Order: sequence, then C-alpha cells, then structure tokens
Amino acid sequence: MEQEKRGQWASNFGFLMAAIGSAIGLGNIWGFPYKMGANGGFIFLIIYLALVSFVGFATMLGELALGRKYGMGVIGTYRKISEKYTWIGWLGWLSGFFILAFYSVLGGFTVRYFFGFLLEMFSSGAGFGGMDSGAFFGSYIINAPVVLLYHAIFMGATIIIVMGGISGGIEKFSAIAMPTLFVMVIIVVIRSVTLEGSFVGLEFMFKPDIEAIKEIGLMRVLKTAAGQMFFSLSLGMGCMITYGSYLSKNENLEKNAMIIPIADTTFACLSALAVLPAVGAFIYQGVEGVSFGAGPGLLFVTLHRVFSVGMGGFMGNFFGAFFYFLVFIAAVTSSISLLEVCTAYFIDKRVAKGLSPDRKKITLIMGIIIFLLGFLPAMDGLGSGRAGGAMIDIPAVIFGMKEVRVAFDCWLDFYDMISEGVFMPLGAMLMSLIIGWKLKTTLIKEEVESTPGYQIRAYNFWDICFKFIVPLAMFFVLLGQLDDFFGLGIF
Ligand code: TRP
Repeated sequence: MEQEKRGQWASNFGFLMAAIGSAIGLGNIWGFPYKMGANGGFIFLIIYLALVSFVGFATMLGELALGRKYGMGVIGTYRKISEKYTWIGWLGWLSGFFILAFYSVLGGFTVRYFFGFLLEMFSSGAGFGGMDSGAFFGSYIINAPVVLLYHAIFMGATIIIVMGGISGGIEKFSAIAMPTLFVMVIIVVIRSVTLEGSFVGLEFMFKPDIEAIKEIGLMRVLKTAAGQMFFSLSLGMGCMITYGSYLSKNENLEKNAMIIPIADTTFACLSALAVLPAVGAFIYQGVEGVSFGAGPGLLFVTLHRVFSVGMGGFMGNFFGAFFYFLVFIAAVTSSISLLEVCTAYFIDKRVAKGLSPDRKKITLIMGIIIFLLGFLPAMDGLGSGRAGGAMIDIPAVIFGMKEVRVAFDCWLDFYDMISEGVFMPLGAMLMSLIIGWKLKTTLIKEEVESTPGYQIRAYNFWDICFKFIVPLAMFFVLLGQLDDFFGLGIF
C-alpha cells in the first residue's frame, strides 16, 4: 500500500534510463574529457575503469539495495537503519539541495546557448549579438536578470517532470530522452572525429602519457579520477537510494548496479570523443582562442568558438544548437534526480502519516526554494564581476598543525565545496562502513536474493569492497576534496 502511494518504476528499462540519466550529466561532458587528456590519457582511463570496478559498482549496489530494502528516500532510509544515523541522511539531502541550486543555473546556460545557436541559424547576430565567444560569455554571466530567467526555465522544466511522478514523469521522460541522447552524441562524435586535424584531440585524449603522471604525481591523478567517478555516478548523496526505493523486488540488483556505471562511463568516453577531437581540430587549423581546458570555460567558451568560428556558417550553428540541446537533456535528467531526493523526504513523511503524498505541491515548493537558493550563484557572475579578491576569504585557519587560507571565488564554488567536497564523500564512506561492519554485507546478500529465484553471484567481492576498498577510497576522495578546496597541500 505504501509503495503504491509513493510510486514505482513501470519497468526495469525505465528505471535504468532514469538512473543512467541521473549519472550522465554536465560532469561527464565538461569534466571527464579534459581530466582524461591532462592526466595521462589512456593510463587515466585504465585507472578510472579500475575505480569504477572496485568502488563504483559496490557503492551503486549498496545504495540501490538500501533504497529497495527500506523503501524510503535517503533520510528515511538512514533513520530506519538507526535513529542515530539520521544525520547521515541529512548530509545527502542537503547536498542535493546545494548541488541542484547551482546545477540549475548552469543548466540554464545550456538553454541560453541552445536558443542562441538556433537563432543564429536564421539570422546572424540574433543569437549572440555578433560577439566573440569569450566576450559573449563574459557579458552573459554578469547579466543577472537573464541568467535568472534561464535558471527559472531550467528549474521549471525540472519541476514539471518531477511533478509527473516516478513512472509518469521521471521514467517517461528518461525513457525517451536517454536513447535520444546516445544517438545524438554519436552523431556529434562522427562530426567531430571527421574534422580536419581531429587527430590532435585524439592524441591528447588517448596517448598514454607516463610523463604527465610523473609530473602531476600518481596520488593527484588518482584523486582526480576518484572524485570524478563519484560525482559522475551520482553517488554519495542518496540519489540511487531514492531511485532504488521505487524498484520492484523482481528486478536484478546486481545486474543493474553494473549496467548504470558501464553506461555512464561509456557516455563519458563518447563525450570525450565528441569534444576533444573538435577542439584539437581547430587548434590544428589555427583558430585563435581554442585550447584544451575543462569546466564552464570549455563548455561555454571553447566549444562556442568551435561551432561559431571553427565550423562556422549554417552547419556550425546547426551543430551548436544540436550539441547544446544534447547537453541540456543530459543536465535535466540529472537535475530531476536531485529534486526527487529533496521531494521524496516530504512524500515519505506524509505517506507514513497515512496522508496522500501530495507530490505536485511538495515538488513545486521544494523547486521554488531551491530556485531561490540559486539566486546567489546566479547573480555573482561566477566571481568575474567582483573587483579584486575572493568572495569569501578567511586568511588563516588553523587545521591541526597547518595554516590554511579559506577562499572561494564565487557562491558556486562554495555550494560545491559543501556538497561535493565534504558531505558526499563523508556520506559514501559512512554508508560503506555501516554496510560492511555494522549491518554486515549479509544485508546486501539478502536484499539481492529477495528477487525470486536469484542467487547472488559476487558476494565475496562485494564483501571486500564494502569492508575495505570503498571506505578507503572514499576517505581518499574526502582528503582529496578538502585538499582541493582548502589547498591543504596534502597531495
Ligand atoms: N552525475 C551528474 C553529472 O555527472 C550530476 C548528479 C546528479 C549528481 N545527481 C547527483 C552528482 C547526485 C552527485 C550526486 O553531472
């Protein structure tokens, strides 16, 4: 009865599309390609694959199993395990809250760029005002009302989908969006690798570069790969706990826990093939202002140049619109999972009291609150409008024996630090410790085997993962993130 009220996936395929949709997002497109190229190429890929195999699969299985077993969102799940763990659920819930606030601002950028290229197709200058890529980006991010408008459009789309419910909204949308996304990215890959000079990008991406690893240091490379993996798979904040809670006992958890990371990693490689060869081609062709890089600069400046100047003309605008639409779809299927985590908590509470879930109202209210929280990162121009100095700057904080400068350039960095930097790796580490040592991995075995007639295949492997490998890896990610955000100089 409770399950009926909360909602359920209509099919395993639909669930997979939603979970893969959550995993595939901006992280894959603007993070993975450059990180791979800059951190040893092919060797980075091997390290990444090893991390997915030994940490990603197990963490995914752990989250899905906890969700399905307890049938609740992230806070409810930890509370059911033990009242004293409720706060771990809150860590995840709050992470979703903060990530979505800035993710939606960035999602709005993709909508703006999609419209921009679309308009350019019909009339030159209509989309980007005849400005150069860098100049346009610079003027856009400090134009707060427009950034807010697109933030509102993106959040609005997210809210509408989540309002539709699990099978009627999230699943329906993802089941169409995800296959489309794969087809679209393949089209972009074909265009990208057939450009003259694309080998420059392919080489940057694949060449096993031991020198780079020596120079950067193996520990730093590992840290980069582990941080990327865990954000990309949407782990550590209970997204997969929440999605798992809508899964029927008939579905094979072990298989699902492997398919999602494999699809996400495949897509990450495809986005690298879509992005880097195009960037490389125009470096080769000598287009000014095109270079390898990561983050918003790659997505909104370099790639804008690739389409507007490198390809140019009607086809450049066409592929620009096509590409940013693709990125928009990837971002929305992630943002709906973030909003669902936040919404599920209140739905669970109402269902537990025997009330109707009132999903529409709760989703709308949560969405609006997160939209408002997004005002700060939307209005500070990503730190570019400020004259001198960082936004938050506490010159000396004593951490143990070390003096550290705590500084953030913009609100986005600050929100990111709270969530991705601290709460999520901490949450994932505690989850695996709880599964490995407190509840014992027999819990995983029982949940996996609650599927009629199914016997767990890799129990010993999961056991070792939960007890040792995942906690260690997550502790390492946590240190790495703290190091990144606070410049502790550990690595
Ligand atoms: N994985 C998504 C990306 O790569 C972002 C995301 C969605 C996420 N839900 C999450 C990250 C939960 C961490 C936790 O862009």
